Amino acid sequence: MIPEKILAQILDVARIEEVIGDVVQLKKRGANYLGRCPFHDEKTPSFTVSPAKGIYKCFGCGAAGNVVKFVMENEHLSYPEAIKFVGRRYNIEVEEIEITPADRLAQQNREGLLIAAKFVANYFSHQLFDNQEGRSIGLSYFKERGFSEDIVRKFELGYALDSWDDLLTVAQTSGYSLDLLQQLGLVAEKDGRKFAFFRSRVQFAIHDANGKVVAFAGRTLSKDPKKPKYINSPETEIYHKSKVLYGMHLAKKSIAQHNECLLVEGYTDVISLVQGGIENVVASAGTSLTIEQIRLIRRYTPNITILYDGDAAGIKAALRGIDLVLEEDMNVKIVLLPMPEDPDSYIRKVGKTAFEQYIHSNAKDFVLFKADLLIKEVGDDPVKRTDLIRNIVATVAVIPDNIKRQLYLQKCAELLQIDQQLLINEVNKMRLKKHRPQDHNEQQNTLTNEQLDYLTNPAGNRLQPIKVQEVVTSCEIYEKELLNVLLEFGSMIYIDDVLLAVYLIHETETCLLITPTTKK
Ligand code: UTP
Ligand code: MN
Repeated sequence: MIPEKILAQILDVARIEEVIGDVVQLKKRGANYLGRCPFHDEKTPSFTVSPAKGIYKCFGCGAAGNVVKFVMENEHLSYPEAIKFVGRRYNIEVEEIEITPADRLAQQNREGLLIAAKFVANYFSHQLFDNQEGRSIGLSYFKERGFSEDIVRKFELGYALDSWDDLLTVAQTSGYSLDLLQQLGLVAEKDGRKFAFFRSRVQFAIHDANGKVVAFAGRTLSKDPKKPKYINSPETEIYHKSKVLYGMHLAKKSIAQHNECLLVEGYTDVISLVQGGIENVVASAGTSLTIEQIRLIRRYTPNITILYDGDAAGIKAALRGIDLVLEEDMNVKIVLLPMPEDPDSYIRKVGKTAFEQYIHSNAKDFVLFKADLLIKEVGDDPVKRTDLIRNIVATVAVIPDNIKRQLYLQKCAELLQIDQQLLINEVNKMRLKKHRPQDHNEQQNTLTNEQLDYLTNPAGNRLQPIKVQEVVTSCEIYEKELLNVLLEFGSMIYIDDVLLAVYLIHETETCLLITPTTKK
């Protein structure tokens, strides 16, 4: 069996247009690619590849599927062989593992937990609609907020009774062991007494991207400031917070269609937008955005638009954690909503069309948004300005795409009114530092494997071996060389004016390593 982790990694990095592009000549047509179908004879291309959806479809013969299916059909391979094939394309080693009895038990346990979680979601929903307390407190609360019954059912919202043991008793009578409930984090314990973790709260089922219930969040309706507004299920065998985005199971189709993912802060923001007809929306549930969540979004689109409240806290939040998104080579836009609205209140106030209009006319590119904001904050103070430049340089330096990086540097130089070359140098320094071994005393003459990996492909996949050629030169020649190569090849260049310069020349697949004989 292929380990789940490896399989996920392969599906994560594999780009269907690249794998198919290896054997079919593809031309870009809008968001898709078009080519001649390899599965039947045709003169006019009707074979379509959709990177956003990760699928191919031939409108001539009907062949269709995902990247693994393509390889299975095209190379005549079994499923595991096809996965290995794709893995090799991206230099991912696939070692099959034997399923041990312990693995099988763990798998069965996870399946049991999923079934129990679904049962509990149904139980909470039943209390909301069919129980006197649930209806008068929970359902009327949702109605007051403007949630329709349809949307309440669509998101599997529910109600946890003001009771210590109702859930535990009902679940056990229906054949779910206390142990399962405990593993789901639904049982709290104090002084040896076991009781329901969620009590007297409206409940939000949290689903994985496939729509399976994996956890819950409960919102208090009490005004008591000592009570946390939301409490969330703990991490469990089936719930890994960092990997789940609230609403993704309903949003993914729309995200791919719109080629854009809206990211909001709250569960209720997601629900209100979906009710209002905007479906390409998710929230990170009770955590700041993680790398796994970003990669989950990237399966469907490279474009994220983040909606924040327009207050100071919202703006601060907007600056946090986004470098992480840029590092994944995604395009990030920020929208600040007019004070004091959040997405939930704003869509209810203005409706779908005006909401969409607002987003599209107020979406600001994240890097420029950040630069703009910091510039206003800093004013003319030279010390603060230096910090500001460092801060922006750090943001731009993580962007893997060279062209994008250069364009940002141009814009930022304009905004900051400083020499663009200065910014370029700073970014280059920062990037080189990141990819150079820690020991600065030791002069490097050869590149480490990591550096080579990085140079050949910033995404980290070395596709072909490259030759490394070392040139020792004095500083002036080194600078001239640099200019020549830059003019001629203009590809990836990492400069550190003290230690070394490295160019990768794509055409000859040679990496030129230039070491100055004298240090400046
Ligand atoms: P908000 O306080 O903005 O809540 O927190 P909200 O989603 O808008 O809810 P309403 O509209 O007041 O009912 C935003 C998100 O932060 C997490 C939740 O994921 C919430 O949706 N959060 C907030 C918690 O996990 N715990 C808390 O105590 C508060
Ligand atoms: Mn809210």
